Amino acid sequence: MHLSAIEKSLLEGETGTAAKKAMEILVALGKIFHAQDMVEVSSAQIAGVSYQNIGDPGIEFLTHWVELDAAVRIPAFMNPAGIDRNQWKQMGFSESFAVKQLEIISLLQKMGIAPTLSCTPYHLGHTPTIHEHVAWSESSAVSYANSVLGARTNREGGPSALAAAITGRTPRFGLHLQENRRATHRIDVKCKLTHASEFGLIGYLVGKAVGNGIPYFCTLTLPEGEIDRTSALKTLGAAMAASGAVALYHVHDFTPELLEAPDAVISSDLPVVAIDSIEQAIASLRQQGTQLDLVALGCPHSSIEQIREIAEFIGDRTCKAKLWITTSAAVRTIAASSGLIDQLNHAGVNVIADTCMVVAPLQSLDIKYVGVDSAKAACYLPSHQGMTTYWGTTEQCIESAIEGQWKF
Ligand code: F3S
Repeated sequence: MHLSAIEKSLLEGETGTAAKKAMEILVALGKIFHAQDMVEVSSAQIAGVSYQNIGDPGIEFLTHWVELDAAVRIPAFMNPAGIDRNQWKQMGFSESFAVKQLEIISLLQKMGIAPTLSCTPYHLGHTPTIHEHVAWSESSAVSYANSVLGARTNREGGPSALAAAITGRTPRFGLHLQENRRATHRIDVKCKLTHASEFGLIGYLVGKAVGNGIPYFCTLTLPEGEIDRTSALKTLGAAMAASGAVALYHVHDFTPELLEAPDAVISSDLPVVAIDSIEQAIASLRQQGTQLDLVALGCPHSSIEQIREIAEFIGDRTCKAKLWITTSAAVRTIAASSGLIDQLNHAGVNVIADTCMVVAPLQSLDIKYVGVDSAKAACYLPSHQGMTTYWGTTEQCIESAIEGQWKF
């Protein structure tokens, strides 16, 4: 593999053992995927933050890097953790879990990684532009960066994202190469969608149909309003990455790469996947029952605009069942300063930062029945957390929380 002078010096340990080790990981990865050289990346998103997912071996791994004096060279930020740093006690998470979780965050911070603890870094000012190379990890964020922003990232694993953060490099393979960004399937969505959350159902069906392919949505009508459109694209990408392994998609008349040079990403002879109805997805993602312990919105993490819309929809009603909205601490702070948190608390809603329904240890809170408006969450909660899960639109989820039982 061709390495620049800087990359060679990193590999030879001239800037320290941590950088040497990080470069060794990236070179090994590059060799596996036949990369010709490295590409400079402008930011890294580090997944593998929740103690529930990485456990004690993860803490040992991170401790080792800190002992090597590892430090990031580019902006790097964290994916969600297993608890809300400020509310974990009130929420009922155990002290033993919280101590381990806070240790993980502290180890990552020692390397210079910002505790954004969010899967929507693009709501926090991290918005790489078209053709910009980054090294992001969380699958929905990867999908959004590649597709909606037109940036270029593979779906990094925890160690490779950390190595990219330390060196500012990643091997040039996969979605960093123009030729690998061509659509593999043409998706013909024939049904009419009336709620942004229904785009997740389309994503669920398409992910199942194309696996790790690159879908081109030739007939998808996006919502008109900016808030609903962003919400639809977030949930669409998240679901395709959950039911399949889609890391990039193109939307007719919308996604930047398609607008810039359609012939570079679309061919006329693609196999067609027709989506006639969302009913099959609802049948798969909505389990039977009415019992409800929690309604969890905010997968991927909510924007301030989404939180405001939820507050407006609830109005002066109150929830009988627990209702969480998950987001980043930064967005929660904005919501607090505009009075939204007080208003939502009054309605029985808790805006949770730093974590989400999938990576938090829900079982330890004695939660078994969960309503969600995210197809990704509905896909993962039964298998990852053993939850009985009901998918509904955002409005159906809220109405159910107000009633205290699943209504649909
Ligand atoms: Fe984000 Fe958690 Fe969903 S990390 S995409 S809110 S599963």
